[in-house]
Amino acid sequence: MIDIINKAKSKHSLTKDEIIFLLSCEDGSQIFKAADEVRKKYVGDDVHLRALIEFSNICRCNCVYCGLRSQNSDVERYRLSQTQILESAKRAADFGYRTIVLQSGEDIFFTADYLAEIIKDIKKLDVAVTLSIGERTFEEYKILKDSGADRFLLRIETTDKVLYEKCHPKASFENRVRCLRDLKKLGFETGTGCLVGLPEQTIESLADDILFFKNLDADMIGIGPLIVHPHTPLNGLPNGNFDLALRVMAITRLLLPDINIPATTAMETLNSQGRIIALQSGANVVMPNLTDSYAREKYEIYPNKAGINYTELSEKLSQIGRTISHLKGFRGNKDLPSSNERTFG
Ligand code: 5AD
Ligand code: SF4
Repeated sequence: MIDIINKAKSKHSLTKDEIIFLLSCEDGSQIFKAADEVRKKYVGDDVHLRALIEFSNICRCNCVYCGLRSQNSDVERYRLSQTQILESAKRAADFGYRTIVLQSGEDIFFTADYLAEIIKDIKKLDVAVTLSIGERTFEEYKILKDSGADRFLLRIETTDKVLYEKCHPKASFENRVRCLRDLKKLGFETGTGCLVGLPEQTIESLADDILFFKNLDADMIGIGPLIVHPHTPLNGLPNGNFDLALRVMAITRLLLPDINIPATTAMETLNSQGRIIALQSGANVVMPNLTDSYAREKYEIYPNKAGINYTELSEKLSQIGRTISHLKGFRGNKDLPSSNERTFG
């Protein structure tokens, strides 16, 4: 085990069998420690905060695990107006956030041209813009990129094609991969990731997920345990395993040492210390939710989503020797401290 970890630390490459070994060994603490060291060496002690704005919970997809799936009629659907989105973005920028993440269900009311208008306005705030809006065509992604969007999040969820197509009725695994390749081609900083704990998911397929991230040369990876939503077909099944999700994340850090990895809300939801534990096991990003509360409670991907209190977070971070970054936080720190720093609060 120590040999495999040392190989991962120095070469940032592992075989599928070695990954499977690390995912299944009894005690993960050495993996977490190694990932923490690699995180410190490559991306330092800075934690990047990204302001999340959930601007529409309307979704044409029917993902079996998600509370916002189109067949869940129990959800009160909403769409924020252009003005509301801009106001939220402005509030986040005024507070000190250097990245705005615009997230929604797959809501085609927001055409690429309409989103481009919104993005152009937000870019005037001197922030990075990340989109998390699902699958679109190459041409649509190009319009979004040309309007100034910097990054795009689209999790692959699972690289097991059969499982993927079971979990995503009518969707195609090939199209998902096509989207990710298009995003990379267009020059987006591209984020992907997976869900840990899908029914019938195997350790082998999680190893494939990690190798997929490496092969894509993803710039950001978000890993979360599945949290079962009662108004979905997965009702009654167990949640994902926190320790296993943490291992997938830590091994991803070992193989992609300089990328951005969030301590996900799903980790904090399953474990009250989940965010801090993740930040000490390879993560270097936190995504506080800045959606107004009336909309936020309707954006229920899964139940009891954990929140964040800024003051509490900054205290906890300083207790573990970490600092809040004032930069936009691109991969490889392409923005230097001299370029218009800003402070929080
Ligand atoms: N539990 C955990 N994560 C979920 N997501 C969707 N539903 C759930 C759930 N029940 C994740 C998906 C998606 C991201 C926005 O939220 O991975 O990509
Ligand atoms: Fe829609 Fe995303 Fe939920 Fe799937 S995971 S149903 S695409 S909001």
